[in-house]
Amino acid sequence: MTVTRELINKLKVQEVLTKDEFIYLLERMTKEDSEVLHEEAKKTAQRIFNNKIYTRGLIEFTNYCKNDCYYCGIRKSNLCVERYRLTEEEILDCCRVGYHLGFRTFVLQGGEDGRYSDEDILRIIKSIKLLYPDCAITLSIGEKSHESYLCFYEAGADRYLLRHETANVSHYGKLHPENLSLANRKQCLWDLKKIGYQVGAGFMVGSPYQTKENIVEDLLFLKDLSPQMVGIGPFIPHHDTPFATYQAGTLEQTLDLISILRLMIPNALLPATTALGTIDKTGREKGILAGANVVMPNLSPTGVRKKYALYDNKICTGDEAAECRACLDRRIANIGYQLVVDRGDFKPI
Ligand code: 5AD
Ligand code: FES
Repeated sequence: MTVTRELINKLKVQEVLTKDEFIYLLERMTKEDSEVLHEEAKKTAQRIFNNKIYTRGLIEFTNYCKNDCYYCGIRKSNLCVERYRLTEEEILDCCRVGYHLGFRTFVLQGGEDGRYSDEDILRIIKSIKLLYPDCAITLSIGEKSHESYLCFYEAGADRYLLRHETANVSHYGKLHPENLSLANRKQCLWDLKKIGYQVGAGFMVGSPYQTKENIVEDLLFLKDLSPQMVGIGPFIPHHDTPFATYQAGTLEQTLDLISILRLMIPNALLPATTALGTIDKTGREKGILAGANVVMPNLSPTGVRKKYALYDNKICTGDEAAECRACLDRRIANIGYQLVVDRGDFKPI
């Protein structure tokens, strides 16, 4: 057996690869190896989740952001963005529509918008929980203090998404301005875990300056943090950012990494991301067939969707929530899976 196949087998039996082994695997995998890897990851996901795919309704409630990440279309220096904030009423409206479409998790995502105080966020969490007590709330609103994270959790937030973006300090510095640090990002993730959230970390595949070594550091950091969710998707350039002319990440590398993560953390919640669906027409289906088990369609009002452009050519920006739901139902049924009405919580093995 070739060394790459041996390494895939090691991953399959939950052995952690060393840094050198990971690098060898990432550099030497053939197309056939890649197919074997995806198949193993798919089987692992099916063993744990059968053919069920969980779904989360994404509500992009503000595109104001005080940060200036070089890759992101809603960075504060991008003066071409038309900024918006949804009112509490509009957010609850998204939930109402979403609930009737079968969503049992709402993801409140936004830029780091100073206009919302902790009290504002608390009020929104409590209203959603009051109206939809059987739903999970996921927050994705960036770096906050331990104290803020704690009060959101106590008010009923169940999960938190905060991608680490890269686990390498110098790479982190190439993607972010100086006022943002990897140390703080990691601290936030550890705080969130300790408080009791189901935590999601993750990174962009093929981000500018990313090396194979960086990716290995990401994988080893994720093994260490052992988050309940891992969001990865290809980097896609946005035309009004400093990275406008950089290359996008590839479908193939993203799929390989989804599969590796599935084998490393078998019961993790792994989304087939919108970015994956953007670089390839059936990218999300391919993600599921490589081991992903979550999709996160958009519930934001159609009027604001185009304004929440983190990258170019984002899919589904013209579709109503109901159309996306129906579209995904069909796409997922086509590949032999089923979109379920379920909170889709993380389950320890
Ligand atoms: N391409 C792909 N993903 C991006 N994100 C931000 N900008 C881009 C981009 N240009 C991702 C980041 C962030 C998440 C919400 O979206 O990883 O954490
Ligand atoms: Fe949005 Fe297909 S999922 S239109």
